[in-house]
Amino acid sequence: MKLTVLFFGDVDGKIGRRAVSKILPSLKKQYSPDLVMANVENLAHGKGITEKTLQELLDAGVDFCTSGNHIFKREAGLNLLEKKSVPVIRPANYPDGTIGRGYEIIEVGTKKVLVINLLGKVFIDEKDIACPFHTLNDILEEHSQTDLAGIIVDIHAEATSEKVAIGWHADGKVSAVLGTHTHIPTADAKILPQGTAYITDVGMVGAVESVLGVKKDIILNRFLNNSKESFEFPEEGLTQVNAVVVEIDSGTRKAISVKLINKQITI
Ligand SMILES: [Fe+2]
Ligand SMILES: [Fe+2]
Repeated sequence: MKLTVLFFGDVDGKIGRRAVSKILPSLKKQYSPDLVMANVENLAHGKGITEKTLQELLDAGVDFCTSGNHIFKREAGLNLLEKKSVPVIRPANYPDGTIGRGYEIIEVGTKKVLVINLLGKVFIDEKDIACPFHTLNDILEEHSQTDLAGIIVDIHAEATSEKVAIGWHADGKVSAVLGTHTHIPTADAKILPQGTAYITDVGMVGAVESVLGVKKDIILNRFLNNSKESFEFPEEGLTQVNAVVVEIDSGTRKAISVKLINKQITI
């Protein structure tokens, strides 16, 4: 039995949401995913989520969402993380007492899939983050007796070295390790020797004429003139859609294939 997962990298603002809505029907037709996921840390104008923006993505056909450090940057979305009915998790290695949950077992048809979200520690300016390697061990240990069809890990991290190391650490223990956070897709989608699908970064769903999704002039002005202009996001135009499709053997929980989707569409 096969489990196919379609996973969008960081969905950036309105243009990202609209791009997911526009492209998902054709991707569903092409790949017939059993589970559609997205990283939503930048969903609402680059920072966190709101009820409305999350609903837009769910209405588009996304089933479950991971996130990252930016999920906490919008007050309005924090109460959503608390609700069990809201299909969004945040990295598991934030300190105890942090709002939201870091992993969840979700039902995909008759199957159970464990989704784990982790935050890297290298070059990430967040306080009291526990070791992602040991956090992963603890979560896997806790679920060692659970009948799971797949285990998906979103490692939200800056340093390629840390993500590659997490991939090796998790090889054979989980079905897929998918990197997020940098917004730039890497060319290393592969299946590791023990059967774990791996990519250092899936990339983003956001504006092409941008710096990581933010209007390019604003970022240039910051670099060139030390400006303190706040971030704005292009809302239409050419849009980058980065995602991966992972096929998993739900009996062995090992990956069968992993494919990077790298398209541009006009919004
Ligand atoms: Fe992001
Ligand atoms: Fe991030």
